[in-house]
Amino acid sequence: MMEECLRTVNLTLMLLCLILLGTAHSIYPRIRLSHKELSQLNRTWVFEGHGAAALQPQTMLLDEGHERLYVGSKNALFSLSLDRVDAHHSEIQWSSTEYQIEECLMKGREKPECANYIKVLQQYNQTHLLVCGTGAFNPICGFVTVGNTQQDRHFALEDNSIISGRGRCPYDPNSPCTSTLSRGELYIGLYTDYWENDGALCRLNNQTYTRTERDDRQQLNEPTFVGSAVIPDNDDRDDDKVYFFFTERVVDPEGVNKAVYSRVGRVCANDQGGQRMLVNRWSSFLKTRLICSVAGPNGIDTHFDELEDVFVLNNKEKKNPEIFGLFSTTSAVFKGYAVCVYHMEDIRAAFNGQFAYRERPEHHWTPYEDRVPYPRPGSCASKVNGGGFSSSKEFPDEVLRFIRSHPVMYRPVFPQHRRPVLLQTEPGGRKLTQIAVDRVQAQDGHYHVLYIGTDDSMVLKIITIYNKDTDTMEEVLLEELQVFKVPVPIKEIIISPKRQQLYVGSEVGVAQVRLHQCDLYGSECADCCLARDPYCAWDGVTCSRFYPAGVFTKSRRFRRQDIRHGNAVQLCNGLQIDNEQWQRAEERFVYSVESNSTLLECVPRSLQAKVLWFLQRGEEKHEVRGDERVIVTSHGLLFLQVRSSDAGVYVCQTVEHGYVHTLLRTTLHVLRGERVESAIHRANDGEGEKAAALCQSFTGLPPGPSVSPRVLLVPSSGPGPNSRLWYKEFLQLIGYGDAQRVEAYCERVWCSDKKRKKAKKKYAPPAGERRGKGRREENSHRAPRHTSDT
Ligand SMILES: *[C@@H]1O[C@H](CO)[C@@H](O)[C@H](O)[C@H]1NC(C)=O
Ligand SMILES: *[C@@H]1O[C@H](CO)[C@@H](O)[C@H](O)[C@H]1NC(C)=O
Ligand SMILES: *[C@@H]1O[C@H](CO)[C@@H](O)[C@H](O)[C@H]1NC(C)=O
Ligand SMILES: *[C@@H]1O[C@H](CO)[C@@H](O)[C@H](O)[C@H]1NC(C)=O
Repeated sequence: MMEECLRTVNLTLMLLCLILLGTAHSIYPRIRLSHKELSQLNRTWVFEGHGAAALQPQTMLLDEGHERLYVGSKNALFSLSLDRVDAHHSEIQWSSTEYQIEECLMKGREKPECANYIKVLQQYNQTHLLVCGTGAFNPICGFVTVGNTQQDRHFALEDNSIISGRGRCPYDPNSPCTSTLSRGELYIGLYTDYWENDGALCRLNNQTYTRTERDDRQQLNEPTFVGSAVIPDNDDRDDDKVYFFFTERVVDPEGVNKAVYSRVGRVCANDQGGQRMLVNRWSSFLKTRLICSVAGPNGIDTHFDELEDVFVLNNKEKKNPEIFGLFSTTSAVFKGYAVCVYHMEDIRAAFNGQFAYRERPEHHWTPYEDRVPYPRPGSCASKVNGGGFSSSKEFPDEVLRFIRSHPVMYRPVFPQHRRPVLLQTEPGGRKLTQIAVDRVQAQDGHYHVLYIGTDDSMVLKIITIYNKDTDTMEEVLLEELQVFKVPVPIKEIIISPKRQQLYVGSEVGVAQVRLHQCDLYGSECADCCLARDPYCAWDGVTCSRFYPAGVFTKSRRFRRQDIRHGNAVQLCNGLQIDNEQWQRAEERFVYSVESNSTLLECVPRSLQAKVLWFLQRGEEKHEVRGDERVIVTSHGLLFLQVRSSDAGVYVCQTVEHGYVHTLLRTTLHVLRGERVESAIHRANDGEGEKAAALCQSFTGLPPGPSVSPRVLLVPSSGPGPNSRLWYKEFLQLIGYGDAQRVEAYCERVWCSDKKRKKAKKKYAPPAGERRGKGRREENSHRAPRHTSDT
């Protein structure tokens, strides 16, 4: 849409477009990069598979040991290079047989569903992956060898390893499932049956199959599985817990409204089930509600209850990762997304708290007040828990009976600060689908950089800053990156902090995106500070990667960075004296004809900067606030009908976080309509010398822009070789019809003129590159102003 606007010659229409665009987003990224720009900057590479069919990745796995990214897709498994996903890939074709497809179609399934969609992809051990696919509604699993060392890169499916995938992989390619593998055991949340009735949390190894109870709506009710992780409780591995994140239906006491709740559930990794009861069933399954809500003005909280994605950010302390949940709400009055962060201590406290109890399904939940049996239901058979039990099979029946009837905790888990860290209430019709997080050390502390995938191919890079004094959250949208060429939902984001890369999957391919590109923010201290990107700092010369003290201590003295406040005034003043900057601001000359419309362009690099215009007359500077004739747009100052009294020097300044930056000084010349007309007419009538003088004046004038024929931007750098283009535009501008005769005449004047000068002529670079001189040269590949590149 933006592109269309810019192409539109009619300024009034363009104005309309600008106004519409202005209201489209509530939160602006500091930098927006289209797919084309990301590619040109070598910031992104995309693997699209080969052939005409879309790649359709279903699941991805990062293997930093072998330096590979494995991608399970439709009928194939890929191994991509972590350096360049689009180069040197290997591939395993794994389709269903003709017979299986035939059978699938006979069951009434559609042709596209009757294929092998790889849904489970786990590192089984150092040399093997465990891979499961839907197998045309007949799930299958197998082992894939990936080689022993980094150099030894086998990539093959072991034929004799193929087994049934029932209970390990869903039947339906669209069925939600989550899996994690720990010590040779696969933990998986999935629908185990063809009809998708049996949602279950399971553990499989080569001997046992442990799961939630079948048809127990108290344990799981129409669950949608989102994420899972094995997290230790302490140094005793027997206390390791497996956490599952999912949503499910809850029925209110009246049995009328079916709401969706987000849940965290957990089991002991060493749970062996019971001996006489709960055989091959979890003897430790508990769950509770994950709360992500904002307080409403009327005292009623708005809950974000639909968990879209979860990210477990590991810490040095393995038992205390931070859990990031991306939630949505679909309430009728309020639509939006939120990110909440949970601490393990809060999750553990909820599980160690009171059990929930209700007399009957139609009653409200209350805390269970009676005696709780020993060992406490939900605890693992371990030394820490008093010993005495070497396996859950030894737990007293009383314990098993209790947990069977009380799987819900009374206390929910509240997020850090009891509020979301990120809130998008009007995402502009955009859906948020995925989240990945990096922890970044900056000069003034640690920051979480959130990478959020959208349904229109974007990855939003955001930091959130908590202000203790005001108890408020500030969101800073650093970058908006269009990762794929066409708008498709982002289905997966994997982050590699080690490589400083994101690996992003959508139905059209897998993209690799570098986490930061500091030089894009600009080369000045202020540009860099205002960006507030914790990866970047100003090093005295450019904006470059920031490394915390101790890594490159030598250069530390010169590093300037202020993520929390973005206070460029304090950090960068003294480096750029305002006066000096004034001198360095770009100079432009714009010629316009009376009564015509004219745009004085000024687009700051940062989309978050506020633009101010001043008209300078002598020593005095007046702010131009705009009226019905002169309009301040996001592209510049627009004169709908320029008057000769408008002539003057216009100064474009930006203000961002209190930092004032003079970007541009534009001198507007207003040509009197009749005079131009008559000059043309004289030329037309063949009034020899005067016409020649007019032609001369065209050549004498430096090149105009090729952006819009109605806007003449003339740099101060003197005449150039593109004057003729400018002259044609000029004739159009003043509405002169018979341009050809003038052109022919001028051609003659120029030709003789050119011959004279030919000997000395030295070619200057083309107009486009010369427009911005000096420091504005970076303009040509600065933060772009259009999102689409098609
Ligand atoms: C991108 O990489 C190509 C070769 O891989 C190189 O020729 C080009 O200069 C690079 N572009 C930028 C902006 O670094
Ligand atoms: C990994 O597992 C596979 C499949 O069970 C087995 O064949 C292989 O020997 C194992 N490799 C190692 C290094 O344990
Ligand atoms: C799987 O079976 C093999 C051989 O039967 C055994 O050596 C291995 O320990 C088993 N793995 C697990 C996780 O039980
Ligand atoms: C621009 O000015 C010329 C000369 O006054 C006039 O003929 C022409 O119609 C004007 N164009 C517009 C779009 O106002």
